[in-house]
Amino acid sequence: MGRIIIFTGKGGVGKTTTAAAHAVKAAKEGMRTLIVSTDMAHNLSDLFMKEIKEEPAEIFDNLFALEIDSNYEMNRHYGSISEAFKNMISFKNAKDEEIMEDIVVFPGIEELFSLLKIQELYNQNIYDLIIVDCAPTGETLSLLKFPELFSWYMEKLFPIGKVAMKVLRPISKVAFKLDMPNENAMNDIEKLYIKLGMLQSLLKDREICSIRLVTIPEKMVLEESKRSYMYLNLYNFNVDGLYINRIMPADIDNSFFDQWKQIQKKYLDEIHSIFSNIPIYKIKWYEVDINGVSGLERVMEDSLQDANLFKVLKTTVNETFAKTENGYRLDVYIPFTNKKDFEIFESGTDIIVKIGNFKRNIPIPNVIRKYSIASAKLNEEVLSIYFE
Ligand SMILES: Nc1ncnc2c1ncn2[C@@H]1O[C@H](COP(=O)(O)OP(=O)(O)O)[C@@H](O)[C@H]1O
Ligand SMILES: [Mg+2]
Repeated sequence: MGRIIIFTGKGGVGKTTTAAAHAVKAAKEGMRTLIVSTDMAHNLSDLFMKEIKEEPAEIFDNLFALEIDSNYEMNRHYGSISEAFKNMISFKNAKDEEIMEDIVVFPGIEELFSLLKIQELYNQNIYDLIIVDCAPTGETLSLLKFPELFSWYMEKLFPIGKVAMKVLRPISKVAFKLDMPNENAMNDIEKLYIKLGMLQSLLKDREICSIRLVTIPEKMVLEESKRSYMYLNLYNFNVDGLYINRIMPADIDNSFFDQWKQIQKKYLDEIHSIFSNIPIYKIKWYEVDINGVSGLERVMEDSLQDANLFKVLKTTVNETFAKTENGYRLDVYIPFTNKKDFEIFESGTDIIVKIGNFKRNIPIPNVIRKYSIASAKLNEEVLSIYFE
């Protein structure tokens, strides 16, 4: 069974460098490896100094690289879909803010096709390891939550799979002007819907897919890494590693850097204490930028010696249901949040946990549906929702 490792983090922190160093290492160890970039600002070609296009290009023995063009993917597979969506989502007079928010997140569907391409490549079963150099975190998050949101839409708007007329009623034509897509697009949408379901299971499969965060020891970037970690856990992805890049070497002998070193130390300590439950790798700040296989080999030799690097480094259990005296309890692991950040509500067959602009639908098993939410508690990064 092949593995997928997704690298993400804020722009410029070293995602491409870190991802590529892993790819070089894996290939040198004999794994058939593909590195894929989904970032619209591609730079694998520059890094490997080779032209890389829509189909995998060989870099050296066992190493292949691909820059995904999401527009190309979309046109290739789903020509009529985007029009259909655009027409469908022209709405007016939406008073319900709740629904507004869902709709507003919808544009950007093109990005989703990059992930579908990864799924396609995975299913071809050619590679032992697929390394994904992902877009900056904000975009990645909306990409990763997209399948969930999309499924939600489909179930509410179309009678495919679960029919949910009860839930459909409040967002009927009173609120929106819904143009139903033509039959041609409908088939495409149905196909897409099914693929998205499979994509979700693939990306959330803990044995197949790991998500690794790349950060640097600086306040703003660290804050963003914490947020991504929280949201990725909220959406039930397995984040099993953190990379701290651009660490100043201790032997720099120049007083200008003394204070910088202190600042970095402060954030390094902080990172170690807050991410204490996942493996952390450190990458030093090199005297030059990192180019070509030889540059990547330096990173690999200095920082990526762990023999288990490509394995699942840690498995987080994000959701569990347990029987209680009066009903059931759902535990959701969500690090770095406050009690006041949450909103929890029931919707049809799902529980919705909302934090900021992010909303996660957690399907509730049949046996629990006859109970209602009695209370919720946040304790040690675990949100417990009691059904009684
Ligand atoms: N540890 C480092 N030391 C020196 N240069 C680095 C280091 N990490 C990254 N760089 C350089 O910084 C730039 C941005 O890195 P990159 O990996 O492309 O970031 P991202 O993909 O997150 O935008 C590149 O020119 C890269 O060579
Ligand atoms: Mg990059």
